[in-house]
Amino acid sequence: MAMNINIAAVDYDGLIPNNVGLGQDPRVKRALEKWHPGYINWWNDMGPEGFQESLVYLRTAISVDPKGWAKFDYVRMPEYRWGVLLAPQHVGRKIPFGMHKGEDAWQEVPGEYRAMLRRLIVIQGDTEPASVEQQRHLGKTAPSLYDLRNLFQVNVEEGRHLWAMVYLLQKYFGRDGREEAEELLKRRSGETDSPRMLGAFNERTPDWLSFFMFTFFTDRDGKMQLAALAQSGFDPLSRTCRFMLTEEAHHMYVGETGVTRTIQRTCEAMLAAGITDPNDIERIRALGVIDLPTLQKKANLHFSLTLDLFGNEISTNAANAFNAGLKGRYQEDKLTDDHQLINATYPVLRPRDGAIVNEDVPALSALNMRLRDDYVADAAIGVGRWNRVFAQAGIDFRITLPHVAFNRGIGEFATVHADTEGHVIARDTWEQRKATMLPSDDDNRFIASLMRPERERGAFASWIAPPRHGIDNRPGDFEYVKIER
Ligand SMILES: [Fe+2]
Ligand SMILES: [Fe+2]
Repeated sequence: MAMNINIAAVDYDGLIPNNVGLGQDPRVKRALEKWHPGYINWWNDMGPEGFQESLVYLRTAISVDPKGWAKFDYVRMPEYRWGVLLAPQHVGRKIPFGMHKGEDAWQEVPGEYRAMLRRLIVIQGDTEPASVEQQRHLGKTAPSLYDLRNLFQVNVEEGRHLWAMVYLLQKYFGRDGREEAEELLKRRSGETDSPRMLGAFNERTPDWLSFFMFTFFTDRDGKMQLAALAQSGFDPLSRTCRFMLTEEAHHMYVGETGVTRTIQRTCEAMLAAGITDPNDIERIRALGVIDLPTLQKKANLHFSLTLDLFGNEISTNAANAFNAGLKGRYQEDKLTDDHQLINATYPVLRPRDGAIVNEDVPALSALNMRLRDDYVADAAIGVGRWNRVFAQAGIDFRITLPHVAFNRGIGEFATVHADTEGHVIARDTWEQRKATMLPSDDDNRFIASLMRPERERGAFASWIAPPRHGIDNRPGDFEYVKIER
């Protein structure tokens, strides 16, 4: 497909780096420059606590070319060049699905879908600053300089993702876009009066294991949502999401390898101490590592919270957004059906008379369920990689994903209690068994007790192994963050 090559380069001359020709668009340039101080205030108030004067070895996008878009250098976070970056336009792109399938992709907002589109952009935009807020205290307890740097990389990129959505609001939605952009800086994760829009983004991320689980499970929801929006018939949204996906991959890498390293360290410590039973929890904890059943419980928690982000399994909103050509399916362009789902059905899991059954429903109304299924399959691949560590170490343990009915607050399973195997259980049974399936206060206290910072080059906390590869081909003992002293 033809591309405009010139758009790959990013203009770093002005206040706002961009590859959207902001210099020739004075109205939007002014709007973004007006929004900028509020953003910096938000970053200072709600971004990482401390370390704002530290030099952090960060990557910055210098082009949107999939090969070689990043430059690594020491940057103070408040001086990070947040900007507006869109993937190259595919000339002649058509709307790939829905009732407008085959028509030219929209370069302007179609009037009849304005409200729906704005809502999709605002919901996506709201998650970006939310996760920065959730993670703001973690710098204090980072298990190494390498991990500290990764946290900050994720944080500045989530900040940039907010910029990405705010650009769309400012450029295409006039006054209400401007108001939404302001609101995005006002809501706060976990606050009662003006919380972030989605549940999982109001939960706490109190420790580094939570951070790794969050980036593995919840950033992966981000990937699925962005992938569905990257199919959008509204071309600027598609292009911005395509570029965001390249950044998102690193966030999931941080989560997946963070958990892998945690597992690895636990297995090493168990083997060195001659412990083979993963349930010998007190002895394992005494080694200063996280026992495997607790890891499983953390996975159960973050997986189930994230599933709620997919919304109701059966949803008219999802059907409308698809019909309108605004939000597609995961890898829509690789699917080989009619892309309109006119007569198609899709199986949806739901509770019926104390059991969980599959029911075929019109595929259009089951799009959230379908995206969630794609998500579960994607997450399972990463979990499979964690399990290789046990196999290699010869420790008899596996992490498994709980049943999708487990611990749900939204959708079909919100009204029932189910165990991790997907058996519907009575409320009393749930209360009795809860602490065996979700982290207990005691588990959380133990994890918290391990969260002591390591700030020497090449040093790692007791509970986590060094990474196999550094960042930007640097060694593990590289000074990834130069902390002001
Ligand atoms: Fe993001
Ligand atoms: Fe992310």
